[in-house]
Amino acid sequence: MKKEMSEHSDSQLDVLFLNELREIYGAEKQQLIVLPLLKKAASSLKLRNVLASHLDDTSEHIRRLETIFGLLNQPAEIREPETIFGITREAEQVIATTVQDTATRDAGLIVAAQKLEHYEITSYGSLATHARTLEHDEIEELLELSLYEEKESDDLLTALAENYINTEASRE
Ligand SMILES: [Fe+2]
Repeated sequence: MKKEMSEHSDSQLDVLFLNELREIYGAEKQQLIVLPLLKKAASSLKLRNVLASHLDDTSEHIRRLETIFGLLNQPAEIREPETIFGITREAEQVIATTVQDTATRDAGLIVAAQKLEHYEITSYGSLATHARTLEHDEIEELLELSLYEEKESDDLLTALAENYINTEASRE
């Protein structure tokens, strides 16, 4: 049976949930900056395509989070995504220390892109669990959708690394 929202409204888990939503919202927005940077630096067409489709997903994930804030009657606010700032600096280091148009650079960019994905998978996984506990059924469904898409992008990056780029990079 669905409990009344008010029963949870002041719980510590509600506060944590909202803060985590603000953090992933900030992380998704920062990826609108990082993903084009990675895409521009990549030489493999396949990698550029995976990054472009992750960028499209990111815009959708941002819209979904804004829907969630609306369902919670909360303003869509960001929390500074410190982890994503760190991964951005790591990606810049990869670009600074590798040669343009090499599979080695692409291999490094995939590492950075997968760090982003794993952060998102962890965040959406935890948020979906918390939404279930708080009985926010509709919100849980939206979070599960984004979680699924993040996992799909991550699998594509793994396949790309295993099937092509790491082999090429080992020959450079
Ligand atoms: Fe995302």
